[in-house]
Amino acid sequence: MKFANRPDPYPFYEELRRTPVAKVSDKTYVVTGYPEVLALVHDPRISVDVSRSPSGFFGEKLVQLDPAEAAQNRNWSMLVTDPPEHDVMRRQFMRHFGPPHTPDLIPSMEGFVVDKANELLDAAAKRAKDSGSHRMDVVEDFSYPIPVSVIFRVMGAPIEDEPKFHGWVTDFMQAADVGPERMSPEGQAAIAKANQSSAELAAWLDDLVEKLIREPGPGLLSAALHDDGPDGPVSARVAKANALLLMIAGHDTTVNTITNAVMTLLRNPGSWDLLRDNRDLVPRAVEEVQRLQGAVQFAVNRWAMTDIEVGGTRIPAGSAVFLVLAAANRDPRRFPEPDRFDPMRQDNEHLGFGSGIHTCFGGPLARLEINLALEVFLRRVKSPRLVVDPPPYRHNQVFRGPRHLWVDFAEITD
Ligand code: HEM
Repeated sequence: MKFANRPDPYPFYEELRRTPVAKVSDKTYVVTGYPEVLALVHDPRISVDVSRSPSGFFGEKLVQLDPAEAAQNRNWSMLVTDPPEHDVMRRQFMRHFGPPHTPDLIPSMEGFVVDKANELLDAAAKRAKDSGSHRMDVVEDFSYPIPVSVIFRVMGAPIEDEPKFHGWVTDFMQAADVGPERMSPEGQAAIAKANQSSAELAAWLDDLVEKLIREPGPGLLSAALHDDGPDGPVSARVAKANALLLMIAGHDTTVNTITNAVMTLLRNPGSWDLLRDNRDLVPRAVEEVQRLQGAVQFAVNRWAMTDIEVGGTRIPAGSAVFLVLAAANRDPRRFPEPDRFDPMRQDNEHLGFGSGIHTCFGGPLARLEINLALEVFLRRVKSPRLVVDPPPYRHNQVFRGPRHLWVDFAEITD
């Protein structure tokens, strides 16, 4: 999708949704309707593993794959692995992340998140006092530092490496899923830079995994590498691929959602006041933000393993299937007045975290972070208003979010 549409891709999705399962080119289908996306994320005839498919994408083009080469080069992260391997690795990581084996990890981050949010607003208040400028960039000054410090802590990664990590991820995100501009000279330059940064990021994580294999340390990665649970420890190969997935998926989406929450409330001032005065409404409003402004616009590429009939269309075996979660989330057949932000909306089973076996692994942690960050912001930042609306957007079409969100405020109180 064109970069020019990034601030508001929704009219385009609405147009696409007139054909909820649309063939866009040979053996390539785009699914934008809620019931159709929901059916396909739960359909075992759909694979996420490109090495099981006869074809793959080269840029925008679908090409035939050599099966042996595809199997050799496959990525071992759970996001692109099918059962039964998927389920084993997901259990191996989940054992050290959530209930029943590790019920306390996510709740134990509560104090850390609140302290971090307060520390960031203290710094913004001090800057305002020193400079006289009552303006902050919500992305850099607030949304980004919270999830990134949480995921480093959860994973047991050395936080002193965060600035390097930030640079690599910025380059990677700039070029991954660039959309139709990928063939332009700028697109190609960004892709070359992203390849270099991705290699450095992967090498850094490989070193971390190797080190933790030799010397166990704190955090999820080490725990999974030294697990003595029913599925045994994860292999180095699986640890490395999933470390990359968890480190990136575990912060970028949450940064965008905190920013989207602040932006959406400021676009709807009545809602801002309502939530500031009724904190118990925050969780529901956060879900509504996720429905309206998904931080993951499409699910990862999927492949039809056999012919599949959905929404009156037959998707032939071997086709690539794009599930546009963000379009499904505004399907009027599922959500009345789908473009309206209704922080009190009942029956809001959005697909912002996906659904089915690949449902977001970190959803409960993300929800905790977004809710707490937003509560602190609502409590302390007085009379905020958007400076530029729509804000500038980052390039990535899948992991969509503002690059900056400038907000002017009257005061940041204690
Ligand atoms: C608001 C924040 C987040 C959003 C919107 C989000 C969204 C998603 C979505 C839509 C999927 C499913 C993709 C698909 O079916 O192809 C997913 C999967 C995943 N997410 Fe998240 N995510 C968020 C936060 C997190 C966090 C904090 C973590 C880690 C701590 C995380 C780790 C993962 C992993 C590992 C998967 C793959 C699960 C699997 O394949 O079984 N995510 N996420």
